Amino acid sequence: MILVTGGAGFIGGNFVLDWLAQSDEPVINVDKLTYAGNLDTLASLKDDPRHLFVHAGIGDREVIGKLLAEHDVRAVVNFAAESHVDRSITGPGEFIQTNVVGTFNLLDVVRHYWGDLPADKKAAFRFLHVSTDEVYGTLSATDAPFAETNRYEPNSPYSASKAASDHLVRAWHHTYGLPVLTTNCSNNYGPYHFPEKLIPLVILNALAGKPLPIYGDGQQIRDWLYVKDHCSAIRRVLADGKVGETYNVGGWNEKANLDVVNTICGILDDIKPRADGAAYASQITYVQDRPGHDRRYAIDARKLERELGWKPAETFETGIRKTVQWYLDNEQWVGNVTSGSYREWINQQYGA
Ligand code: NAD
Ligand code: TYD
Repeated sequence: MILVTGGAGFIGGNFVLDWLAQSDEPVINVDKLTYAGNLDTLASLKDDPRHLFVHAGIGDREVIGKLLAEHDVRAVVNFAAESHVDRSITGPGEFIQTNVVGTFNLLDVVRHYWGDLPADKKAAFRFLHVSTDEVYGTLSATDAPFAETNRYEPNSPYSASKAASDHLVRAWHHTYGLPVLTTNCSNNYGPYHFPEKLIPLVILNALAGKPLPIYGDGQQIRDWLYVKDHCSAIRRVLADGKVGETYNVGGWNEKANLDVVNTICGILDDIKPRADGAAYASQITYVQDRPGHDRRYAIDARKLERELGWKPAETFETGIRKTVQWYLDNEQWVGNVTSGSYREWINQQYGA
């Protein structure tokens, strides 16, 4: 079986659901259930014997060591992280603890388990580390998209902590021989996305008649990747990726934030018009910019296509329509995540 960390979060949750929809290989899902972890996402697996949920942190060496040995794990996929840039600005400590110290502890426990495996299992074992394009820093409008060979130039506490974790993963391969794979992907969007991030925040604020906050001039560019395409890329890399290599994963969908928000507003005008007939775009509000805000991210995903035959299935236009519809269809999931500590964050970040 495989062991996934952070599988109650946005991407990890989608990965676990998709994995078990396509394969009968069981999954151990280790998640600390921070504010971003949500067992509602995994509700359909409640009585599924192929899914073993374990409430623990990636730094819990004893629990993870025991799980690896008892379940004869053949691969670890590490999604667990603190993942929100804005939170890393107001409170970087947790990012260092989980993304750097946590990844170190996980790697080290996995290394010992792997070291004791018989030769055939040792050769087949994989540790796949899920990282971000933000480690490469920021691009100008005319720069070429990030390739795997770009220099690491992280600018936020979040991206710096992810860069540090990538370096640890690399070192555990070069020094100890641990068979690692690293993926660096662009901004994901899709079902089960926690509404602190731009796309779900805008969908839900629009429906609630609240302001749609645009940081700065809204001309920052992100390269949007539908989460299910990201999950299929991870499955490809896990199956056939070359040990020690890194693979960039992107959607070939560069969009300015303001265009993303206007697209969402247009879809909502179409499928769920406001009662007063006004356009949702009238809720757009410019707010103070994020400190150190990276201007542009874009991924060159040609290596993954050339070497492993992976390409995204969704365009932004098809993926964003599915995503808006998903939020309209899943009121209960939304109601549960937008209570309690979520409200505190929104008040702290945007003011009551
Ligand atoms: P998320 O914040 O939605 O979920 C993170 C999950 O990890 C949560 O379930 C949380 O409870 C869990 N977690 C946090 N600390 C933990 C710990 N110490 N031990 C165990 N579990 C812990 O994040 P996401 O958007 O699903 O991102 C998953 C991974 O993908 C992260 O490593 C992130 O850096 C990377 N990534 C995300 C994006 C994106 O657009 N969301 C883009 C590029 C890379
Ligand atoms: P986000 O979803 O936080 O992802 P990341 O910072 O990892 O790219 O933000 C995406 C973009 O949207 C980023 O340029 C910041 C911007 N943004 C806003 O303009 N308003 C918002 O309320 C949020 C959350 C983000």
